[in-house]
Amino acid sequence: MSKQNIYDDGTFFEKFKSDRSDELNFNDTVETPIITAMLPDLAGKDVLDIGCGMGQHALQYSKMGAESVLGIDISEKMLAFAQENNAAPNITYRRLAFEDLDQLTEKFDVITSSLAFDYVKDFGELMKGIYALLKDSGYCVFSMSHPMATAWDGVYDRYTRTEQGERLYANLRNYSIEGVRHVRWVVDDYEVYHRTLSTLINAIVAAGFVIEECEESMLPEEFIRAHSDKFGGLIHKPEFIFFRCRKLS
Ligand SMILES: C[S@@+](CC[C@H](N)C(=O)[O-])C[C@H]1O[C@@H](n2cnc3c(N)ncnc32)[C@H](O)[C@@H]1O
Repeated sequence: MSKQNIYDDGTFFEKFKSDRSDELNFNDTVETPIITAMLPDLAGKDVLDIGCGMGQHALQYSKMGAESVLGIDISEKMLAFAQENNAAPNITYRRLAFEDLDQLTEKFDVITSSLAFDYVKDFGELMKGIYALLKDSGYCVFSMSHPMATAWDGVYDRYTRTEQGERLYANLRNYSIEGVRHVRWVVDDYEVYHRTLSTLINAIVAAGFVIEECEESMLPEEFIRAHSDKFGGLIHKPEFIFFRCRKLS
């Protein structure tokens, strides 16, 4: 199975680090509030954060009272940043790809992931692997790019605009064709996987999960209008999709 490790590309890493530390970044402004509201009580829980990146969420979950947090990621650069900036006594960072989840021997109460599953080739296998790592009644809460956001390949404008530059519509391309997309973003060949909404839902259910909640990224309209350069597109299409899944066996 192919394992892209684009975050260890120096240019890509620096761009991500700079975007992630921007005062109004998509992660902290859009993603984190929604996934946080969907989490169960983490007090005393063993948590696995898949694709933990720079460790912001791992530290957050530690502060929310988790007993232990294991953050795994494929990127050495991301893990080095996490270790240096977002460490805590009950957090362990480990280099492990999500294609290799079967190397983990421990079980978890809660498995989370923020914006990492766009990179997995076989989403169905990933869901089955997560299910196997959860304790009974455990939760899997994750976000990823919305299928409307991945139905794009960077070779044409994301939006049709007025002459003044105002976004009129979001452009989708080949929504019904699933698979890898080679996008021009920061680097020439950035790979993400596009899947339809039904494929995501059916893979989650086929793994054995009950879907308890699904959300799409939105912000209050006044906020979007006040920061339309950055967030104006959210009026036309959701950037992220979120699921809270439960192992009820
Ligand atoms: C958009 S970043 C999100 C990081 C972090 N979860 C956050 O919310 O800031 C995606 C992360 O997924 C990681 N990743 C990509 N492919 C991976 C793989 N095959 N196995 C594990 N992690 C992977 C990247 O290295 C990167 O750290």
